[in-house]
Amino acid sequence: MNTSSATPYGTLPPASPVAARKPNSLPRLQDMRERGEKITMLTAYDATFAAVADAAGIDCILVGDSLGMVCQGLPSTVGVSLETMRYHVESVVRGVQRVQGTTWIIGDLPFGSYHESREQALRSATVLMQAGAHMVKLEGGGWTTETVRFLVERGIPVCAHLGLTPQTVHALGGYRVQGRGDSAAKLRQDALALQDAGAAMLVLEMVPAALSAELTEALPRCHTIGIGAGKGTAGQVLVMHDMLGINLGKNPKFVRNFMTGQSSVLDAMGAYVRAVKDGSFPDNALHAW
Ligand code: KIV
Repeated sequence: MNTSSATPYGTLPPASPVAARKPNSLPRLQDMRERGEKITMLTAYDATFAAVADAAGIDCILVGDSLGMVCQGLPSTVGVSLETMRYHVESVVRGVQRVQGTTWIIGDLPFGSYHESREQALRSATVLMQAGAHMVKLEGGGWTTETVRFLVERGIPVCAHLGLTPQTVHALGGYRVQGRGDSAAKLRQDALALQDAGAAMLVLEMVPAALSAELTEALPRCHTIGIGAGKGTAGQVLVMHDMLGINLGKNPKFVRNFMTGQSSVLDAMGAYVRAVKDGSFPDNALHAW
């Protein structure tokens, strides 16, 4: 089936037959998972790029707190506030509604907005859900499990995040691969507990490819989304500025510059969608540990 069509941003590449027409939802994402179709996720922070991502057939947009680094020029994500996240979620939601409106939107809970108590997490998640997010994301395992359960029981879909968790970069000693050696057992235990608590997605960042493939098998109801975690996950996520080759630093090893050979941002995002769906990105030999 050819799903190409014209948009204000150019002609769409053929995208996911599931995502192309109807708004994404948790049942649709579960259906993709069960059919073996990879889930595509990309960060976006404003209305225009969100509209282009939606037009390109991206399944999920993450309004990541990485915006602290790529939009605000901060040295890490630690300084991002809940109010800033609300502003960017609202902008992305308006952009997506301008085009197909199919993309599932995830709002990142920033550092300090869910750490005090489950009640604080609920208040913060409410801010992002009322801004139009479909799901919230939070970092860490173990101490977050009961918070995830509390939010899910109250009807808030949750994406967890394990491995390299950028909000704790200072505690981790830098942006390093996680889950090697003895720490793999803790990561496994945290991931299973998060699925049990109801997390519907799990970002695995900078985790060895073999471990993330094993976790994907072990988590049928919690879709693993890899970033620098090899090709064995249920889906992939990249920071938009990295995959467009416009970040201010050096691209990490796990990134591919999808602008190479493309004449528009729409085409670059379309190339990313196709590469994830057909399994040609990531390449474990080049983009994994
Ligand atoms: O904030 C973000 O963009 C993220 C991704 C790196 C997964 O958490």
